[in-house]
Amino acid sequence: MISYKNVTKKYGTLIAVSDFTLEIERGGFFGLLGPNGAGKTTLLRMATTLAAPDSGVISIDGEPVGRNSTVAKRRLGVVPQYSNLEGELSALQNLEYHGRLYAIPSASMRARAAELLEFAGLADRKNDKAKTFSGGMQRKLMIVKALMHEPDILLLDETTVGLDAAWRRRIWDLLRELHGQGLTILLTTHYLEEAQALCSLVGVIDRGRLKLTGSPRSLISGAGEFVIEYYDGIRTAQRFFNSRSEALAEAAKLGREFKVREASLEDVFIKLTQKHTDNLERSDGLSVKAGA
Ligand SMILES: Nc1ncnc2c1ncn2[C@@H]1O[C@H](COP(=O)(O)OP(=O)(O)O)[C@@H](O)[C@H]1O
Ligand SMILES: [Mg+2]
Repeated sequence: MISYKNVTKKYGTLIAVSDFTLEIERGGFFGLLGPNGAGKTTLLRMATTLAAPDSGVISIDGEPVGRNSTVAKRRLGVVPQYSNLEGELSALQNLEYHGRLYAIPSASMRARAAELLEFAGLADRKNDKAKTFSGGMQRKLMIVKALMHEPDILLLDETTVGLDAAWRRRIWDLLRELHGQGLTILLTTHYLEEAQALCSLVGVIDRGRLKLTGSPRSLISGAGEFVIEYYDGIRTAQRFFNSRSEALAEAAKLGREFKVREASLEDVFIKLTQKHTDNLERSDGLSVKAGA
């Protein structure tokens, strides 16, 4: 279990993360959603001790992650937002390099690397330099590199950014399989579709604050299961309803072209952000107990 308790991080006067509390239980698959600059990377960097919170505590199974703590190093596997591969080294060498940093004995290290390359479908390219890999293959290599030291919690920072739809799905399948094997996963994304496809629980973060958490389904039903979308002459407007028939009845009164469809997490996100710009921001409490 990884938990954040009242964590705040400032850079000068900028509050990157504000009083953030979240608990992800063992075996959970949590998606942290937020636009650029929301504080997602900062949250992951604090878990791995690359950044220190100004206040609050991050712990793994109750053990606080401190500046000199080895708990984070041992328990967490990290796939950072930007590549951490050595382009001039082969796929295998990249994994071995990681293994040496973690002082894995060489026999078990070789076996582990071979197994992971096989798992990622990269075994036939293991001797090719990482820089010759496509973006999607590099992402897969970064994921298995993060698993070399057998962590039980995997943190991924916008791992599918820049990949095409097919590759994104290949990465999703890999993550689903790892989750099925018992890994606890915390990923950040700004693709709501991704969080909806993968995560049992999601949290929406905006300007350092956790706005809402829940299952993708519960966030959608909280907003309304059906959406009418139409252009009102100034902007694309959306309205939420609990049933298709209600939505259609309202849409018929519009006298404009409209589209009625099932709501997605993306619609909820837009609704939240609109509320926020309209200054009708929710100020109610956040349920932050996250489970598998
Ligand atoms: N090392 C840093 N120094 C100063 N400001 C930073 C630093 N890292 C992040 N920030 C700022 O903190 C905020 C959150 O950044 P970040 O965690 O990278 O957001 P995200 O990953 O959600 O895009 C942003 O406003 C960003 O500019
Ligand atoms: Mg980031």
